[in-house]
Amino acid sequence: MKITIQTNKNLRKKADFLILSFSYTSKKTKPLFKGDSFKSIIKEPINTKDFLGKAKDISLVYSSKNKEKRVLLLGLGSEKELNEYNLCEAYASAISFLKNKKASSVNIIIPNIDMEKDVLVKGVVEAIYLANYNFDKYKFVTKKNLFSIKEVCLIGLEKRDNHLVKKASIISQGVNLTRDLVNTNADDETPQTLAKLAKDFEKISNKVKVEVFDKKRIEKENMNLLLAVNKGSNKDPVFIIVKYKGDPSSKDSSVIIGKGITYDTGGLSLKPSTSMDTMKSDMSGGASILGSIYAIIKLNLKVNVTAIVPATENAIGPKSYKPGDVYVSACNRSVEVKNTDAEGRLILAEALSYASHKIKPNRVIDLASLTGACVVALGEEISALFSNDRTLAKQLIKASNKTGDHLWRLPLFPEYKKLLKSEIADISNVGGRGAGTITAALFLQEFVDKVSWAHIDIAGPAFKSTLSALHPTYATGAGVRLLVNFFENLK
Ligand code: BES
Ligand code: ZN
Repeated sequence: MKITIQTNKNLRKKADFLILSFSYTSKKTKPLFKGDSFKSIIKEPINTKDFLGKAKDISLVYSSKNKEKRVLLLGLGSEKELNEYNLCEAYASAISFLKNKKASSVNIIIPNIDMEKDVLVKGVVEAIYLANYNFDKYKFVTKKNLFSIKEVCLIGLEKRDNHLVKKASIISQGVNLTRDLVNTNADDETPQTLAKLAKDFEKISNKVKVEVFDKKRIEKENMNLLLAVNKGSNKDPVFIIVKYKGDPSSKDSSVIIGKGITYDTGGLSLKPSTSMDTMKSDMSGGASILGSIYAIIKLNLKVNVTAIVPATENAIGPKSYKPGDVYVSACNRSVEVKNTDAEGRLILAEALSYASHKIKPNRVIDLASLTGACVVALGEEISALFSNDRTLAKQLIKASNKTGDHLWRLPLFPEYKKLLKSEIADISNVGGRGAGTITAALFLQEFVDKVSWAHIDIAGPAFKSTLSALHPTYATGAGVRLLVNFFENLK
């Protein structure tokens, strides 16, 4: 899809549709564009109150005299409540509507509102890319029912705003890359294909170095918890490390880690089939980390970030690791595996201790579809945030409020550590029925040492059961916009 800019609305090219936006404040409908050229088109829908301009209100009107024969009136709601996030949601509903109308080209008059230019452009452009997304890899006969807009012209922006469009396009590409990875079959998207994708990031910039630990190297590193989870699988594990040095003059560095379980059967603690059918998405943390680092590299951000993805299937078979077994991690901590379905924390433990002992960054952030309990507690719209550092938590919540990747902070309640006690090992990998999301986070904390750390459980938002305009497929790419925004604002 192509997005162009036209400063003068009178010089715009013909298109299938035009989008005009309106606000609705104190029961008044207000056009958010200058001039009288559309007066006759908008008069009746507003006078009849058929169209009010409330957030996501949509009306389609027809005009034979216009450069676009069909004009979509879009409501942005109250001007006071407008932010990047709900602006993006409103435009997504318009794009989704036009996509279903088989629109090929769309002109959008950029709303004249009290919002910073970069925020405004970001909201609109991300809406275009994210709502226009289709996943057609496995569509054959019904492929013809999927439509996407080919060309969008943003009217009213200056030539110099082009870099803002480009920036938002890159972030959206990162989100859509993540969605593709998560939507793909586990046998088509394996630890090995993830490693190959990461390796190719070296081609984007010479500031990138990628290292992939294969099974032999993982054995040499004594990452026995990752090897244990891998035992039942017919595919080797990988430990992917993407190093991006965007600011060589600075000593500040971050590590981002993502859970890369390419399929989670639960292992011998087998999942019931109704809980298993979404489990190709259990690498969504890893996919978000790869989508984020891709965008960070392409944006050429002035930060030093290392992305780590430990990846394996949690399969079931004669070689599977067994409930009750004890394994010793690379950092010499023994773990009693009471439940082989609590495998994410095992592979993350190796990555967290590798990051804090070998890389020693200023901060570590991990993303994981870690617990079903998190979906019960916070649903599909909110991810759980844990952190041992108030500043880091605050920065992440700020990024969350800006991007709509919603976070809610939960406590690393130390009294619950006793729930992870094991009679025969240093720690157990499960903590009983209560507070499952918290005990999972407390388990991870045992492996982070003293480094500033945040853990984000994306089990709900990463792969939704209900679709929306902004998220037209199950995989949402949750976490990418959050992390990119976080690193854009890291000072
Ligand atoms: N992949 C799951 C977590 C999950 C559940 C993600 C639902 C998305 C939706 C994870 O590996 C898991 O199975 N966790 C167990 C932990 C339990 C055994 C302590 C769970 O949540 O049931
Ligand atoms: Zn599991």
